Amino acid sequence: MDKRIYLSPPDITGREIEHVMEAFNSNWIAPLGPLVDKFEQAVSGKIGIKSALALSSGTSAIHLALKYIGVNPGDTVFCSSLTFSGSCNPVCYERGELVFIDSERESWNMCPLALEKALVDAKRKNKLPKAVIVVNLYGQSADMDRILPLCEAYGVPVIEDAAESLGAYYKGRSSGTFGMFGTFSFNGNKIVTTSGGGMLVSDNEEAIEKCRFWSTQAREKAIHYEHKEIGYNYRLSNVLAGIGLGQYEQIDQKIEKKKSIYDRYVKAFSDIEEISMNPIPDWSEPNYWLSVLLLCQDSHVKPSEVLNKLQSYNIESRPVWKPMHLQPVFADSEFVTCQLNGGSVSEDLFQKGLCIPSGTSLSREDQDKVIEVIRSLFKKP
Ligand SMILES: Cc1ncc(COP(=O)(O)O)c(C=O)c1O
Repeated sequence: MDKRIYLSPPDITGREIEHVMEAFNSNWIAPLGPLVDKFEQAVSGKIGIKSALALSSGTSAIHLALKYIGVNPGDTVFCSSLTFSGSCNPVCYERGELVFIDSERESWNMCPLALEKALVDAKRKNKLPKAVIVVNLYGQSADMDRILPLCEAYGVPVIEDAAESLGAYYKGRSSGTFGMFGTFSFNGNKIVTTSGGGMLVSDNEEAIEKCRFWSTQAREKAIHYEHKEIGYNYRLSNVLAGIGLGQYEQIDQKIEKKKSIYDRYVKAFSDIEEISMNPIPDWSEPNYWLSVLLLCQDSHVKPSEVLNKLQSYNIESRPVWKPMHLQPVFADSEFVTCQLNGGSVSEDLFQKGLCIPSGTSLSREDQDKVIEVIRSLFKKP
């Protein structure tokens, strides 16, 4: 069997081990410590935001943001439908109600027109959402200049789920800095990983300090253990922050590598009419986290056939996220789209899209193999 080619495996090439050894040598194995502080400062400094809080996951970052905003049982929260469940599960931790918003074709992210439709409807019902979770999919920002003014007009705070878009820019401004809160994930498949981890960022330093308090079991300042509120054990360990710091030091090179992978796919499939790659609007500077191929409506090859063919060569690929409004667990949640024909953009992307190997450790030869296997399915008889 050929060596497995993964979608986006961790890639340890910098000073990760050096930083981790620093934690061991100084015996800072416990959660928190100097590497956590350094990691938070490195991210907030580079993206240009006042405050950052390193956490055990991206999901916990979204949870704390929702808690700070004050989502209570029965409150509504809007969220992009085309995403991973970590974006919206925390709404349910607070017993909130989800309304899912469809994607636009240009960026695959939240459709501003569908968002407007949902806000108008919510206002009419006197049930405006407590928050809007805008997801930046596959390393690319949503169209913030069309989304933010809408949310502002209705007085609804935005949580920018930048789990997949660390290092990306929207019109020159860093991904994760647009909402009241931004959240990142350092899960194993992300461009920067700590094996598992996340970060909450904001220009509201007070808000970050409150979330820091909740993330350490809401422990009051006292010699003994004193608690007036319910807290969480959500902090990132000093050891893992060492991995994150080493990874983050190389983010620019990682983006460059991912971009070259994406560019090669675009070129390699440019003569196959049935295939296009995930689009990049001119206002977007993505981190190219995952390259995604999209098959056209009348393609004689189905995405499942591409997946199976790649699998037969031990190459990993994965369908585009299954939209949340199609998930059995969210069957009762409302979904808003601007499509008039009963379909939706997010469903269409799920049916026709396939994520293909995009890891920074992908060799040229391995990428050639991926390309060759895919191209073989489209050979004219
Ligand atoms: C868009 C998106 N949101 C949220 C998450 C949740 O992050 P985590 O796995 O670190 O909890 C992820 C990925 O893992 C994600 O891709």
